[in-house]
Amino acid sequence: MANVIVVGTQWGDEGKGKVVDILSERFDVVARYQGGNNAGHTVVVGEEKIVLHLVPSGILRKGKTCILGNGVVIDPADLLYEMEQLRRLEAKFEGSFFIGKNAHLVMPYHKILDVERDKGQRKIGTTGRGIGPAYADKMARVGIRIGDLHNPDLFREKLFANLAEKRAHQPASSALLGLDPEKIYADYLGYYQELRPYLVDASLVLNQFIAEGKSVLFEGAQGTLLDVDMGTYPYVTSSSSTAGGACTGTGVSPLNIHGVLGVVKAYTTRVGEGPFPTELKDELGERLRIRGQEFGATTGRPRRCGWFDAVAVRYSTRVNALSTMALMKLDVLDECEKILICNGYRYRGQVIREFPTEAGILKECEPIYEEMKGWQEVTQGVLDYDELPKKCREYIERLEELIGVDFSLISTGPKRDQTIIRKTQTLKDWGLVD
Ligand code: GDP
Ligand code: IMO
Ligand code: MG
Repeated sequence: MANVIVVGTQWGDEGKGKVVDILSERFDVVARYQGGNNAGHTVVVGEEKIVLHLVPSGILRKGKTCILGNGVVIDPADLLYEMEQLRRLEAKFEGSFFIGKNAHLVMPYHKILDVERDKGQRKIGTTGRGIGPAYADKMARVGIRIGDLHNPDLFREKLFANLAEKRAHQPASSALLGLDPEKIYADYLGYYQELRPYLVDASLVLNQFIAEGKSVLFEGAQGTLLDVDMGTYPYVTSSSSTAGGACTGTGVSPLNIHGVLGVVKAYTTRVGEGPFPTELKDELGERLRIRGQEFGATTGRPRRCGWFDAVAVRYSTRVNALSTMALMKLDVLDECEKILICNGYRYRGQVIREFPTEAGILKECEPIYEEMKGWQEVTQGVLDYDELPKKCREYIERLEELIGVDFSLISTGPKRDQTIIRKTQTLKDWGLVD
């Protein structure tokens, strides 16, 4: 069996949770490699809708191992809360859940800084979970890793020094001044006692699994266009959400990874600020939002909605070298009379076909659309590709043509079984279909 990375190809919320949940049935291990509880990955089991923020989306499958790699940032209070909720759904953690001890902690001061900075001209519209400041400390080499809690004196020293430094640069009105370092110290040592049984050297454990012939599914959070290097900087998250992040975020070599599956929505959404050329600011956008239930799984914010952007997704296929893709939320387009696909941008009188990563340029890009007729039939729950309406198949095939990658999975509803699985060569190569 293969080791495969699942990656978002747009601005997040493509349906990675559903895809990882489906595929995890056939894999032994699921590993998150970046991001933190800014992610919201939805899995629907039976009639129950479960949103996972930090715990990998394989947790609801019995007998699977789930790992948080060193590239993830962990808010320990939120992780413990999530684990408690999942235990109620009979998820099992003991012996099957591991946390990389080199993963950095999100501290209370990170959350305050995140919220207090995300204002005015520089507003990104973050999730307010402290993600940016936590990664900033990691890169500045003053971050606190979860394994550091093993040494209370060292932890205390780092905590007090960090807080003093951060307070020195804040106005007197900042909530940072109200934080009690003694309380943080005691709280975090308490979290450590609860999480300690799960701490491991994630790279060592994952490589041992791989050496034993076990298969690993790497679960990306966010999406390619939110990647700190490859995305629409500065309107991005602070981690490497592209396929490359799977290696640095887990300590598994690219030579041990056999492919990358990109997850893409049949249209586009974005939460927070930043350029979005195909955004529909009219009633049509509102209709997509309602039909697609496009409200953030983490913050509940309405997601901005728009047409499919083939320029952006082609860019994602390049930076991730996608082996194949999963096309999600096709059913949301069922009622549309016409469907537009963006296949180029007009920028200051010129036509461009390559995705510009400068936010300033992208903001000025006007989409060049091609139009297709909608199918206006119900596709929700269709399980056989040939049973999709002809116009719907034409839309799918046009997307494949424009992107240059095939869709191995086509999702026709939020539930596990509302999925068309095609016997593509890639799925055969990965041993997922006969
Ligand atoms: P993720 O962050 O990439 O895991 O995606 P989210 O969970 O944030 O958002 C995807 C949403 O779409 C969730 O509410 C899913 O239950 C839902 N969903 C996934 N696939 C489909 C689909 O094919 N059709 C519909 N209607 N909803 C879907
Ligand atoms: P999943 O894994 C969609 C967005 C935020 C904001 C920007 C930076 O569910 O696809 P951050 O809190 O990370 O510093 O916010 O990134 N963002 C997401 N948008 N889905 C996500 O995760 C996101 N995680 C962060 O809205 O614009
Ligand atoms: Mg999400």
